[in-house]
Amino acid sequence: MSKDLYSEIDRDRFRERLNKYTRKAFQLLPELDKPRILDVGCGSGVPTIALAKLSKGEVVGLDIDQSLLDELNRKIEVEGLSNRVKTRKCSMFEMDFPDESFDIIWAEGSIAVIGFERGLKEWRRLLKPGGFLVVHTETRKMSNKLKKIPCFGYKLLSQLPLPEDAHWTEYYKSLEIRIQELRAKYKNDSETLEVLRKNQNEINMVKRNPKEFSSAFYIMQKL
Ligand SMILES: C[S@@+](CC[C@H](N)C(=O)[O-])C[C@H]1O[C@@H](n2cnc3c(N)ncnc32)[C@H](O)[C@@H]1O
Repeated sequence: MSKDLYSEIDRDRFRERLNKYTRKAFQLLPELDKPRILDVGCGSGVPTIALAKLSKGEVVGLDIDQSLLDELNRKIEVEGLSNRVKTRKCSMFEMDFPDESFDIIWAEGSIAVIGFERGLKEWRRLLKPGGFLVVHTETRKMSNKLKKIPCFGYKLLSQLPLPEDAHWTEYYKSLEIRIQELRAKYKNDSETLEVLRKNQNEINMVKRNPKEFSSAFYIMQKL
């Protein structure tokens, strides 16, 4: 997708509406003094920036997609956070930070890439003793996985389910209106229309059955 079309769709504007849940999840953690946070699969960094503001600590936003990190770097600059927020282009499968580097690992919408169990297992060494892992993921098929959390060396401290249709009402519904506007604007531009069609396909999946995309934050502590 061209940079211009990315800015025109401006998904982040809608994504920011879900930050209220990021804030609630963060408030479920005990108070930490300037924690060091790793945001795994940070994308364009909507939660990364929120975490920096909430924690007053240092945040590393890690993602495999450089174009999203470029967008995050732009936000870091605009927000004047370059002393506390850094980006790292790296796969979550290949994170080579030293052991016990972080007080908190935060993963919103990204742990499914590596799988819940493997993520818990591989990321544990990166947490300081007593550090926290916060995962926001779909609630489907989670009950068995939750039972296994202690086997991977964590305690489940709390769960924060989002309202069942939050992704639809707070994100996809407004995104759909934006996509429709752009389809009208670019009705003679087949390349752009193809990109917009793919966006619409993603929206349709959620629209058909919003409850299937129910999600929750899971807040865990390293044992
Ligand atoms: C659903 S998005 C979530 C973005 C962000 N956390 C948020 O909540 O807005 C998932 C992110 O995971 C990233 N991702 C996918 N595979 C990855 C990998 N192997 N290593 C690191 N990040 C990856 C994608 O580039 C994308 O930015």
